[in-house]
Amino acid sequence: MAELFDGYHDNYRDVVQSSIDFSGLPHDFFMRAKADLLRELIAQRLGTERPDMLDVGCGVGSLHPLLHGMVGRLSGIDVSPASLSQARDHNHGVDYREFDGRNFPFADASFDLVTAICVMHHIVPAEWARFIAEMRRVTRPGGLVCVIEHNPYNPLTRLAVARCEFDRDAVLLGVGTTRKLMAASGLHEVGARHFLLLPWDTKPARRLEAALSGVWLGGQYAAFGTA
Ligand SMILES: C[S@@+](CC[C@H](N)C(=O)[O-])C[C@H]1O[C@@H](n2cnc3c(N)ncnc32)[C@H](O)[C@@H]1O
Repeated sequence: MAELFDGYHDNYRDVVQSSIDFSGLPHDFFMRAKADLLRELIAQRLGTERPDMLDVGCGVGSLHPLLHGMVGRLSGIDVSPASLSQARDHNHGVDYREFDGRNFPFADASFDLVTAICVMHHIVPAEWARFIAEMRRVTRPGGLVCVIEHNPYNPLTRLAVARCEFDRDAVLLGVGTTRKLMAASGLHEVGARHFLLLPWDTKPARRLEAALSGVWLGGQYAAFGTA
C-alpha cells in the first residue's frame, strides 16, 4: 500500500478531483464538510475544547489546514513516506510520522480524538478489527474514535470510487460493519451520521443534512465511539 500512495504524493488532489468532477464540486467542499462535522462532534462528544488529535492515514494532510484553532496538538501517521513529506511541506507544526500500518507509534491513551478518514477501505478486511483496536488503544478514556468512510449504498459514491484509479482495490465497508467493529473493540456510545448529501454548504443545507443524518443517504458517513 505504501507504494500505491507514494505514487500519488504530488497529484493526490487532482486524482480525487477527476473522480468527482461529475458532481461539479471541488475537493475542498468535501474536506470542509469533514472539518465541520468534526467540529460538531468535538463540541457534542468531548469535554475538552481543543482536543489533542491523531489523524491515522492522513495522506498529504489535506484536512489539516482546516483544523486550525479547532484542535490542540495535531499528529498524523501514514504508511506512505512520500505523502507525509508533502504533508510536512504544507503544514508546519503538525507531528507527522511514518509507520508500518499496524502498530501505531504512540503510547496508550495519548489523544482525545483519533480519526481515520477514507483509510479503512484501503485495508484488508482481516485487519479491520485490529486497526480499530489500535485507534481505541491510543485514545484517552472519555476520548473519541471517529472513522469517516464512503457510504457504499450511495450510487454517486460508487461512481466516484469506480472512477478513482487508486480505489481499484478498495473494499467499501458499510456503516453497520464499522459500528459493529467499534462496539466489539470496547468503544461505547457508538453512533453514526451520514453527510455529504446536498451540494451546498449553507447553514440551511447543513441543518437539513443533520436532520437526515440517520438515513443512509449521504455520500459518506462518520461512525464514532467513546473510549
Ligand atoms: C484515500 S487516502 C486518504 C488520505 C486522507 N485521510 C484524506 O482524507 O485526504 C488513504 C490513505 O490511507 C493510507 N493508508 C493505507 N493503508 C494504511 C494503514 N494500514 N494505516 C494507515 N494509513 C494507511 C494511504 O497511504 C493513504 O494516504
